[in-house]
Amino acid sequence: MKKITFIGTGYVGLVSGTGISDFGHKVTCVDIAKDKIHDLNNGKLPIYEPGLHELVKKNMEAGRLNFTTDMKKAIQDADVIFIAVGTPMGEDGKSNLKYVESVAMTIGKYLRTYTVICTKSTVPVGTGSWIEGIIRSSNKQNTPFDYISNPEFLREGSAVKDFLWPDRVVIGASSQTAFDIMKEVYGPLYINKRSIVHTSVVTAEMIKYSSNAFLALKISYINEVANLCEALGADVHMVSKIMGQDGRISPKFLHPGPGYGGSCFPKDTEAFVDISKENGLRMLTVEAAIKTNKKQKIRMVDKMKKLMAGNFNNKIITVLGLAFKPNTDDIRESASIDMIKALQDGGGDVRAFDPAANDAMREVFPNISYFNSWEEACQNADGVAIMTEWNEFRGISINRLKSILRNPIVLDTRNILSVKKLKENNFSFDNVGHLIER
Ligand code: UDX
Ligand code: UDX
Repeated sequence: MKKITFIGTGYVGLVSGTGISDFGHKVTCVDIAKDKIHDLNNGKLPIYEPGLHELVKKNMEAGRLNFTTDMKKAIQDADVIFIAVGTPMGEDGKSNLKYVESVAMTIGKYLRTYTVICTKSTVPVGTGSWIEGIIRSSNKQNTPFDYISNPEFLREGSAVKDFLWPDRVVIGASSQTAFDIMKEVYGPLYINKRSIVHTSVVTAEMIKYSSNAFLALKISYINEVANLCEALGADVHMVSKIMGQDGRISPKFLHPGPGYGGSCFPKDTEAFVDISKENGLRMLTVEAAIKTNKKQKIRMVDKMKKLMAGNFNNKIITVLGLAFKPNTDDIRESASIDMIKALQDGGGDVRAFDPAANDAMREVFPNISYFNSWEEACQNADGVAIMTEWNEFRGISINRLKSILRNPIVLDTRNILSVKKLKENNFSFDNVGHLIER
């Protein structure tokens, strides 16, 4: 059993820390946000993640998981320290590493005994040696430590499952001792045959960016295929399904939509392009994916404008779905933000509902109306835009929807409503590459 400290209790830190405590280790999660730590100690989670509440409760009761703001104690008690603070995208598209830098300096300041220091936050390729340097220069006692890169691949909305059953665990380590300690940390996964990959720090960092950027590229690709399907009268669902039957392509991440969001793809693609340029190269494929994604969000607004006879002025328009994907309350870079802004700028009276993200979006758009069900939100609306494929929107009755709308108009950016039923009910509708009868 190891004593482990996670610095940062966001989606990555809280889920990974809780998961590691479930492996039987003693985990301390530390954060500068006092209110967040206070809530966690009282069983209130700062994020919505299926299965996380039970996992936190179970491990807190077992005495394996605790939360504190005391950085010094959390650092000095640990055998392994994970850095899981935010690495948000700066104005210039570069990863903002100010939180990582401040945490590295604090670790250096308090470090007193040999510790494995592991960065889980997504940091630009080559950052590892920079972090090591900061820790070393901030530590006056020359305390020995080994640095590890252990990127995280969890997806929001399925974070607990993704962490406990990963496809692989990537450990970038130059020291065998440190790698062996990490194998012990991830022991249970190793036992149930999850591959634990040992590579260099820079290669581990590269694996993370290469994976994320490729997934983003796949989404932009299918979005462009969908747009062409619309022009040619082909059905993108069939295209992506049959493409996916080729094992080299796989059906995953081939769902067309309004453009990807989240705290990772937008920032990791920009950072990857930036790292490439800094090394005198151009990552043209990823640059194209970024450009396509931005255009896709605008394309959704243009589709809605067309459905609303060219303008939103004084029209009641409902946005169903605010989170950037289902099963999360995270709205970071959500396509809904672009849609709501355009509706507001165009003089629309915007109504919104999301099963988990109303409160988060209220921070961004305080002056639109939020509701607690899709029926209430759609009452007397002149049009609806479905932006997130929550299951409860998949179950929307088209008849019911028609009976409560003032005008039967819907933009289905996630292709979850039946085209056949929309046609039968004389809806004026649009979607993403799927205008064909099902
Ligand atoms: C983020 C990025 O999205 C992800 O790509 C990266 O790999 C890890 O950081 P996330 O968990 O979503 O993942 O971060 P965020 O939700 O921003 O939470 C980070 C936490 O760190 C916050 O709770 C913040 O209070 C805390 N923090 C930040 C510290 O404890 N100390 C600091 O100095 C800065
Ligand atoms: C992503 C990566 O999947 C994960 O491995 C990494 O650790 C963090 O970034 P996340 O951003 O949480 O995870 O969610 P993900 O499920 O990847 O969705 C990202 C965005 O892509 C969402 O806006 C989603 O709606 C969109 N998406 C995803 C599509 O539009 N089509 C798809 O087929 C899949």
